[in-house]
Formats: sequence, structure tokens, C-alpha cells
Amino acid sequence: MASSTLELSGLNFNLTEEQQAVREAARDFARTELLPGVIERDNAAKFPTEQVRRMGELGFLGMMVSPDYGGGGMDTVSYVIAMEEISKVDASCSVIMSVNNSLVCWGLEEFGSEQQKQKYLTRLATGEVIGAFCLSEPEAGSDATSQHTTALDKGDHYLLNGTKNWITNGGSASVYLVIAQTDLEKKHRGINCLIVEKGQDGFAVGKKEDKMGIRASDTHSLMFTDVKVPKENRIGDDGFGFKFAMSTLNGGRIGIAAQALGIAAGAYERALTYSQERQAFGKKIFDHQAIQFKLAEMATKIEAARLLVYKAARLKDEHNDFVQAAAMAKLFASEVAMWATTEAVQIHGGYGYVKEYHVERFMRDAKITQIYEGTSEIQKLVIARELVK
Ligand code: CAA
Repeated sequence: MASSTLELSGLNFNLTEEQQAVREAARDFARTELLPGVIERDNAAKFPTEQVRRMGELGFLGMMVSPDYGGGGMDTVSYVIAMEEISKVDASCSVIMSVNNSLVCWGLEEFGSEQQKQKYLTRLATGEVIGAFCLSEPEAGSDATSQHTTALDKGDHYLLNGTKNWITNGGSASVYLVIAQTDLEKKHRGINCLIVEKGQDGFAVGKKEDKMGIRASDTHSLMFTDVKVPKENRIGDDGFGFKFAMSTLNGGRIGIAAQALGIAAGAYERALTYSQERQAFGKKIFDHQAIQFKLAEMATKIEAARLLVYKAARLKDEHNDFVQAAAMAKLFASEVAMWATTEAVQIHGGYGYVKEYHVERFMRDAKITQIYEGTSEIQKLVIARELVK
């Protein structure tokens, strides 16, 4: 088993002073700048332009990127701490942050050329522009090797054609990492990842999805018709694109696990507070064992999710194999998020079903964490494969 032993990471979860400072900064930012207007942005499905600008200013959009490229030079543990705190308040903002940090910036820094890093990463890490990761297609979600988008080799450039679906930051991004098939015969080893810029001839942003949750983030389909992409915009060697996508998603899953953890914790904190204010049958509802048991179980499962998320982050920071740990963290944290947010609505009763109390939004936002960056079923597949490796 590659990474399943608990002792591997030493289980030392004492936070450094820097990590504690990150938690305080993210918590403070979330409460003072994200909480006001979060319900309105969700209702109107309004992209949080000003909030994203501030996330860039505060260093939340390129946390793990080296300072040489304008990033914060922080570790993955600091990143999950910030993701958790921001997700406790606004999961739309945290998915924008997650995609930019772990799918776009991380992938570019790890595998991009020096020229690509100078040209794109420096602007992405500071939040001057944001990025999108374009893998999913109308007929390629979980089955990600079935790419229909093509990138035909035309000598000094690729000719890109096809459609991408459900792309987070689809309308707001300026830099797009697009996965496409160059050589069909080579199957997944004939796939490339190309950097495409908004505004290139033949590149059109399609309709914005009207979503159940994370409504303030913008999710679009993208259409590419004979888009000429220079060869220098290919990430890695010819045929590296699928490996690039999988390697990048391994780390991305830690970010989404942290998002799920934050959504669960945010709903739990609201339910705990409410249970100590609301009276029923002559006492606070917290004093009814039915409610106590719910909260006790929520606190326990959230803590277990936190341990898995921090463990995966720590393994990545220590350059250990973290594929299975990331899949376990995402699987468990997202299931906890869905369950805990439903319980938080239940504890709030009728108030939980209306928008003012926030928990119904948490419940809607939780659902996507079981779907994107690999469904719960795909995480189980990844975990099972690692068991017999
Ligand atoms: N890490 C590194 N490499 C991996 C990998 C991993 N976790 N999983 C597979 N690979 C490599 C394999 O080693 C293999 O390469 P080689 O043949 O060169 O050795 C190659 O990828 C193909 O692997 P498989 O034969 O295992 O392929 P498969 O088709 O049986 O399974 C899969 C692949 C794991 C199911 C994959 O398709 C998958 O992860 N699907 C889910 C896709 C996904 O997560 N999409 C998310 C979209 S992005 C998003 O959601 C962002 C957002 O909006 C927030």
C-alpha cells in the first residue's frame, strides 16, 4: 500500500506560526469581506469580481507558487487551511481559488517551461488574471481519456477543435489549460495540454450554467473552432497531456477536500450557535439529546475529515505518494459535507429551509464536492487501484 499508513506523516499536526497566521488572515477576510453579500451573490449568480480581486491582493490565488513567480511560496497545509476558512463562508469564492491555485498555477509551475512560467504563471499567481482547467467534455466526464477535442499537429502550431463543458472560471478566466487529443491511435498517450488565451480567433465562451450550488462561480461551456495554438504553448513533451491532467488533479483533489471540509464546518458552526439560541419545549434545543447527538456526530466526522485532508496535504509537502490519501480525503470530506449540511438544515428546522440562515446554501454547495475533480465513485476506483499496487 502506497500511502495508507498513518505513521507515514508522523501525525504531527501542530501548526507553524506561519500556518496559524494564514488561518487568521483567511478567517478574517472571509468574515469581513466575503460574508457581506454572499446570499445576494448566490441568488443572482453574480461573479464575485471584487472579492476575487481582493483574494489576489491578499495572496490567496497563488499560495503555493514560488515567490520567483509572484506567489506566496507556502506549503499545501497552509493552502488547505485557507481553503477551509474561505469555504466556511463562501464556497463559490473557494472553488475559483482552488482551480487557480491547484489546477492551473500548480500544473504550470510543476510542468511548464520557463517561458510559459514567465508569461503566464506570474500573472496568475498574483491574481492579475485567473485561469481555467479544461478537461471535461459533453461525453468525457469521469471517462476522461475519451477526449473528442482535437489538437492536430500542423508543424509550428496545433489546430484546436472541440467543446469543453462545465468549466469553472470559464467566462472570467484569461488563461485556459486545454486538454485535447493529438494522436488518436496513441489513446491517452496521444493527448496534449495546450495553453489558450481568451480572445484567440475561433475561441468562444458558451453559455453560463444555471447551477444548484456554488452559483456565484461561473461555469461555462467553451467552443474551439480552428484555434491556432503555437507549439510553445504545449505543456511538457508531446503526449504528456493526460499525465499532466491526472497529476494535477491529484493535488486538486486535496483542495476540493478542503473545500468540502470548510462547507461542513461552516454549516456545523452555524447549527451549534443556533442550537444554543433557539428554544423548544421550554429549553434550548441544544439541551435536547436528539440535537446534542447530531452535533456530536457532526463534530466527530468533521474532525475525521480534517485529519484526512491535512494528512494528504502533509504527504504532498513531504514529497511522498499522496494519490490514495488525496482520493480518501476528497471522498470522505465530500460525503461528510453532504451529510453534515443536511443535518444543519434539519437542526434549523423551517429556518434552515430559507436563505437567510445560510445552511440551505451550504447544503446546495456541498453536492458538487461529490462530483467535480472526480466523483465519489472515481475516488473509490482510485483508492481501490492503490490498494493492490
Ligand atoms: N495520477 C497520475 N497518473 C495517473 C493517475 C493518477 N491519479 N490515474 C491514472 N494515471 C495515468 C496512468 O498511469 C496511465 O498512464 P500510463 O498508461 O502512461 O501509465 C494513464 O493515466 C491512464 O490511466 P488508466 O489506464 O488508469 O485510465 P482509466 O481510463 O482506466 O482511468 C481515471 C482513469 C482515473 C478514471 C481518470 O479518467 C479520472 O481520474 N477520471 C475523473 C476525471 C476528473 O477528475 N475530472 C475532473 C474534471 S476537472 C474539474 O472538475 C475542475 C472543477 O471544475 C473544479
